[in-house]
Amino acid sequence: MSNIDTQLLQPDALGLDQAVQILQAGGLVAMPTETVYGLAGDARNDHAVARIFAAKGRPHFNPLIVHVQDLEQAQKYAHFDTNAMTLALAFWPGALTLVLPLRLDSGLAPLVTAGLDTVALRVPSHQVARDLLVHFDGPLAAPSANPSGRISPTRVQHVVQGLWGRIDAILEGGAALVGVESTIIGLSYPPLLLRPGGVSAAQIEHVLNASLATIHPQSAIVAPGQLASHYAPNAAVRLGVMQPLVGEIWVGFGPDCGGAALNLSPSADLAEAAANLFHLMREADLLAKGQASIAFAPIPSHGLGAAINDRLSRSAAPRPRC
Ligand code: TXA
Ligand code: MG
Repeated sequence: MSNIDTQLLQPDALGLDQAVQILQAGGLVAMPTETVYGLAGDARNDHAVARIFAAKGRPHFNPLIVHVQDLEQAQKYAHFDTNAMTLALAFWPGALTLVLPLRLDSGLAPLVTAGLDTVALRVPSHQVARDLLVHFDGPLAAPSANPSGRISPTRVQHVVQGLWGRIDAILEGGAALVGVESTIIGLSYPPLLLRPGGVSAAQIEHVLNASLATIHPQSAIVAPGQLASHYAPNAAVRLGVMQPLVGEIWVGFGPDCGGAALNLSPSADLAEAAANLFHLMREADLLAKGQASIAFAPIPSHGLGAAINDRLSRSAAPRPRC
């Protein structure tokens, strides 16, 4: 699927109308969210969902996150227990995805859940995503709007670079404020951290007043963070580097990286680093010109640092050849 006439839409009444018409016809629209740009299609339409996988070149039918406008809509698709309600009330709209038992009468396309009896749900907080969901008045399946395995998009030009000619439209919405994908929680007992993300595990544990379990790396359920190589720039990546090699593109963190070409956050602010992460990965890749490697300074592992380190270690993992 390529050489589609992709439209760039403004997030005004006209642009939203056009986006809704495309979605109603089973088309694909990249939409801004506060985490990363998502590639949205009607989650009730198997054909639209199949097109999402094709446009991304996604090798497996991993289940997708279904985006809804509010908790009430979310309850049409999944059963919420007490913990799920607590988390939804505390963090929605926002960077939290809940994996919950699918309702038998959900009406969602089986492909969106990859045939599982659970569904991943999120209410995004970005105003344009909210406007689109309200106008569309239905559930939107949306993985990150990037070719499979590559760096997630946090700005509209990233989507243009990755998916132009492969999707019907891109709705503009500025730079993503959070910058890393949502945290995914499985509401099993105990609740399970399936992917670290924009809401820290500590924040979630505080609200639940319970510890989160973490997944076994060989677990059968595939979350994107479980794919060893993901978020991959073209250049090779080294981590935890305070003394870069000659010619290496050094991406610093904090005030002690004076010689760094780029810095995720000169003031060592993890929220700023998360918001900059994918953009600076791309910038570093450009500077590397396909020759030099990229070296990232160490990032503390608390708070959003867990999500940042998760993405960095995927970007540094050995790449599958395909
Ligand atoms: O911030 C985000 O979450 C972004 C924006 C666009 O909302 N979306 C995103 O989607 O990161 P994606 O497709 O890259 O990651 C969704 C992942 C799937 O790969 C899958 O591993 C997990 O969510 N997932 C979805 N449904 C699941 C389920 N029923 N059980 C376990 N994991 C599930
Ligand atoms: Mg992704």
